[in-house]
Amino acid sequence: MALFIPENKILEIKNTADIVSIISETVLLKKAGANYVGLCPFHSEKTPSFTVSPDKQIFHCFGCGAGGNIFSFLMKQNAISFAEAAGMLAKRYGIEIPHQGMSPGRKRRISERENLFDINQKALAFFQHVLVEDLRGKKALEYLTKRGIVNETIQRFNIGYAPEGWGNLKNYFQKKKVSLTLVEKSGLISPNKNQSGFYDRFRDRIIFPIIDVNMRVIGFGGRVMDNSQPKYLNSPETSIYNKSRSLYGLNLAKQTCRAHKSVYIVEGYFDLLALYQHGIQNVVATLGTALTSEHIHLLKGYADKMILVYDSDQAGIKAAQRCIDVFLKEHVNFKKEDVFKKENVDTRIMVLPAGHDPDSYIFEFGADVFISAAEKAPGIISFLMDTTIKKHGLSIEGKIHIIADMKEILASIDDSVARSLYIKELSERIQVDENVVLEKVREISVQGTGVTAKAKSLSFVSTKDLKNVNNLKIPREEDLQDRGSKLERQIIAMMLQFPEILFEISIRRVLNHFEDNLLKSIGKIILEYKEGLSEQSRAAISKSQLDDYVCGIINSIDDNEKRCIVTALAIKENPWDRSGCLKLIAQFEGGRNRLKDDLLNKIRAAEEDNDHELLIKLLQEKQKLAVLNEKQKPAQKERINF
Ligand code: CTP
Ligand code: MN
Repeated sequence: MALFIPENKILEIKNTADIVSIISETVLLKKAGANYVGLCPFHSEKTPSFTVSPDKQIFHCFGCGAGGNIFSFLMKQNAISFAEAAGMLAKRYGIEIPHQGMSPGRKRRISERENLFDINQKALAFFQHVLVEDLRGKKALEYLTKRGIVNETIQRFNIGYAPEGWGNLKNYFQKKKVSLTLVEKSGLISPNKNQSGFYDRFRDRIIFPIIDVNMRVIGFGGRVMDNSQPKYLNSPETSIYNKSRSLYGLNLAKQTCRAHKSVYIVEGYFDLLALYQHGIQNVVATLGTALTSEHIHLLKGYADKMILVYDSDQAGIKAAQRCIDVFLKEHVNFKKEDVFKKENVDTRIMVLPAGHDPDSYIFEFGADVFISAAEKAPGIISFLMDTTIKKHGLSIEGKIHIIADMKEILASIDDSVARSLYIKELSERIQVDENVVLEKVREISVQGTGVTAKAKSLSFVSTKDLKNVNNLKIPREEDLQDRGSKLERQIIAMMLQFPEILFEISIRRVLNHFEDNLLKSIGKIILEYKEGLSEQSRAAISKSQLDDYVCGIINSIDDNEKRCIVTALAIKENPWDRSGCLKLIAQFEGGRNRLKDDLLNKIRAAEEDNDHELLIKLLQEKQKLAVLNEKQKPAQKERINF
């Protein structure tokens, strides 16, 4: 796919694409006044501070400071370039990007990522062809049929077959004149021991293509059809395939997950296919890795109930414990079912009867039985309580062990109501005074950081500790509040939201008196942006086309911090009018004059006190102020022409 996207196409994309619907694909957004809000996909939070403005077509997170336009969103979300983001949108909205204009040099510069997507897409076609239309695929089709997989599922999931032999795929790419060194980067072929050539990674295996939410093939999994080892072989991680961030089937599940607001998480390819085929289509599979916080992050955009399905208590316990860790990091609360709130993820652990995995279970008992079993699945804490009680029994010794096992888990529950409800439940179930349990849990909470090392080794982190970590890393709204004076921030906001005022700002040299250099340079960027526009575009920047204006400014800023400050200041709704703006400028200028008077008073006092050191400092300040004031006088000659 072409990576070079002409300017007019960028404009077309910008005008067609809608930031709210694009972001809605991965974040649950709720209307709040003129804007939409949701949980930020770029940092962990439990109260929504991620804001999207449909009028200005920008987003800003007041929690972590991330912000930008539709392109910046996709770039940040998928870790891709501007051109890739634009290409993605073009594809989505059916905007054709001309290929002819590409010079050979440009072709050469097409990024590795694009090449890998392309190679994977070609490989998918090859595998699919062999399975469905080639004699060699017969036994693979038979295997799939034997496992109950019907043709429609094969088509929908683009299942394929890698035939026997060491060079089928290699030859296919060679015939297509695709560089084998490039194909090697996809992991589909590997160099021979003596470096004399390449051999196919997948041989005589059923192939499951792994496709991301943007419908790009990022990797493959392959299963043998007999008992040979390894049972599954997967693509290695590449620049487009990251196992801890990818979920098999999400491309097909995302709509249903949204509709049901829930998602089943299984472990295997066949488990997923079986559920899907039985009508349970809000299902994803982890790819030979444990569930990670990135997975949860990704899924949070589609569902607020997650049902983890496991084939044994042991697997369930492991997953539940991991989850506590992961969810704590995600700042998602465990809630008792009845105090469950919308912004939190309700996580259930479903353990199947011994000897079954989701695949065998649903084929044997059907979807209804599966769903009603899922409805009874306990939340993580209840599940761990159940298994701990089962493990230790209710002897005196057993009860002591149960409390010891559970206290850290209970202490890790962020929400105090949920925590006390669970403490009550445990004390009732094991018939121990509630206060005794409470005391044990308190010991953990009070120990705070002291417990961290131990808690970490158990893969639990105390909530208190996590909060401290977050405070260090995540810039909060207050950080922005510290930037410059309130008036300086208001002036920039005004410049972004009421461009008519730019003339006044420029002629009165308002920016020269900014104390905060970053805000000052943002102000300059805004002025320069308007200056760079054609007469016609300038005239067009009226309130109705504010999104073009803000989007243009954002596109002209490379610096991430500056861009985020711009979105923060642009996204808040302030009803500006000319007289309000002029008042604000006057207030800012008045403040500066007061500063001057103040300085003169201080100088007089220093003179009286004979404090030479202070006097010199104050005089220097006065000089600085004088220079600024000189600059501020309207310069007739170099007046900017609006
Ligand atoms: N897996 C893997 N590598 C392996 C074994 C398993 O990557 N050597 C991953 C695969 O994604 C697989 C999942 O773990 O689908 C679950 O493994 P398992 O339970 O062994 O596979 P099933 O899907 O049950 O496979 P099957 O029913 O075909 O035996
Ligand atoms: Mn299985």
